[in-house]
Amino acid sequence: MSILTSIFKDIFTSRNRIQSSSAQIEISPQSYYDAGIKCLDHRDIAGAQAVYAECLQVFPGNSKARHLEFAIHSVTLQVRFPGSDYLKWLEWFHATLTPKTYVEIGVESGESLQYARPPTRAIGIDPALRIVNSVQVWSKMFKLPSDDFFLQHNLAEVLGAENFDLAFIDGLHTFDQALKDFINLERFSTPTSVVLFHDILPHIPLTAQREPASELWLGDTWKAIAILLKYRPDLHIFTIPASPSGLAVVTNLDRGNDSLHRNFDTIFKEAMALDVESYLPDIERRLNVTGNDFGLVKSLLETRKP
Ligand SMILES: C[S@@+](CC[C@H](N)C(=O)[O-])C[C@H]1O[C@@H](n2cnc3c(N)ncnc32)[C@H](O)[C@@H]1O
Repeated sequence: MSILTSIFKDIFTSRNRIQSSSAQIEISPQSYYDAGIKCLDHRDIAGAQAVYAECLQVFPGNSKARHLEFAIHSVTLQVRFPGSDYLKWLEWFHATLTPKTYVEIGVESGESLQYARPPTRAIGIDPALRIVNSVQVWSKMFKLPSDDFFLQHNLAEVLGAENFDLAFIDGLHTFDQALKDFINLERFSTPTSVVLFHDILPHIPLTAQREPASELWLGDTWKAIAILLKYRPDLHIFTIPASPSGLAVVTNLDRGNDSLHRNFDTIFKEAMALDVESYLPDIERRLNVTGNDFGLVKSLLETRKP
């Protein structure tokens, strides 16, 4: 009996959803997907992984398998990182900090940008903008890669303010781009500005490759935080274990500090040599992971310099 057949039998017959255990099971990518999702509904991650593996074997390279893989990662990460996810945290940062100015690098559909609330003034930067969520605030959108934005525009002029209060880096998922985004933002910061980095807490090496190797792709963005912790001990850095891929919080910025820019080539070489396999077992300590706890994070933010 294939995994698909046995899972359908286990799930359906045990819940009396069908009367006959000899019901015909259609073998298609969709039926594998449905069986995998049923496993996940019951938090049976191992079962879903077995369905996924068989689906790929029977129908190599089918898109339903990719969707199932993504769903497996999502549920695995909700179990691994319980509590509020990164979107709830973004909502919380906006409500708690009430930033006058907000910059988001990597906007996509506007799912995260929708949490900015008046009277915040927001800037969104993304070469592939496709906003479908309603943006509630004064905003300017730039359909550009972030490097081009910073070359062509003066952020202070665009914002109508000398500095930003809150920024979210969620653009290209490579450490060097995330670091460049940070360097460019820091020139418009104050010590109380807060920068959030997404996709910095991988759970398995597969999702943390420099080139996409799975449906869920964090890239090697985690190295950006490893580098900041090493090269900028003056920054205050901690990581919230929010699903699906962590949220790093960086404060105490210094707009006069250009050491990352000056040492970029050395830093790049060093970070390229970092290896996720050896970093992963101890990643929570190394990336200064805190609790997924609003009160705790609020107290950590209160230590910011005025
Ligand atoms: C994961 S999505 C952002 C999701 C969004 N922040 C959210 O949480 O709903 C990443 C986005 O980064 C954009 N991106 C890729 N390279 C970029 C770059 N160099 N500068 C700015 N955005 C970039 C992509 O086009 C994509 O829309």
